[in-house]
Amino acid sequence: MAVLKPKVLRFESLPSTNTELARLASEGAAEGVSIVADEQTAGRGRLQRAWSSPKGAGLYFSILLRPAIPQNHWPLITFMAALAVGDALREASGVQTDIKWPNDLLSGERKICGILAEAIETPAGRAVIVGIGINLTQNAFPPELANVATSVATSTGRPPDRERILAALLDALSRWYSLLDEPGRIVDAWSNRSSYAIGKLVQVSNGDDLWQGTTAGVEPDGALRLRTASGEIKLVRAGDVYSVRPSD
Ligand code: BTN
Repeated sequence: MAVLKPKVLRFESLPSTNTELARLASEGAAEGVSIVADEQTAGRGRLQRAWSSPKGAGLYFSILLRPAIPQNHWPLITFMAALAVGDALREASGVQTDIKWPNDLLSGERKICGILAEAIETPAGRAVIVGIGINLTQNAFPPELANVATSVATSTGRPPDRERILAALLDALSRWYSLLDEPGRIVDAWSNRSSYAIGKLVQVSNGDDLWQGTTAGVEPDGALRLRTASGEIKLVRAGDVYSVRPSD
């Protein structure tokens, strides 16, 4: 059982907490070293996108993990992070979340948190930086995203307590990390918390291809199973998933 002991370093401003933590990891930082910044000037999202990170509007957090599990199970690290964020938001602010494959947290069908896991080579071996961005207020994202994004403040109608959410997140990450060597439990818990796991009509785009189908669960390594109209099962390992209304 992996034991995680987070140690948090705080910064007023950084280009990106993931980038700074990768630098520390390359200098030998230990598992559990974490970074929180009040703002990011070059926050990064999945698929080479920017992550808007104005001062005080979000929780911008990264943690260094050195998982002792087979490489083909590493995609489950983002699953365990999504489970931990879900716990933290529920425990610290009463926000109930859904998980959209692979690891977006939704509240009321709008995105409230994104997760960016990046594998890196370090002198102490392969490691992974898990970056978590939680929208605390509506200022976290540009107004044109208001129909697809939301924040803790909007979901609760109260000012968000960043420190309480952070403390709950550290506890939850430690709990879920200890289960990483039981992939079945992570996949089952993730599937139970995701309306996208089974029976959802979706479109999947990976930049080159666009598929439509109904979700049919996730593989033990985290790939999404998509049943197309012809009955074929496609395994999706990267891309964006969009919910489709049957009449669309
Ligand atoms: C996504 O595209 O949904 C993932 C967004 C991840 C953003 C977080 S904020 C903290 C960490 N530092 C970064 O530059 N990105 C991640």
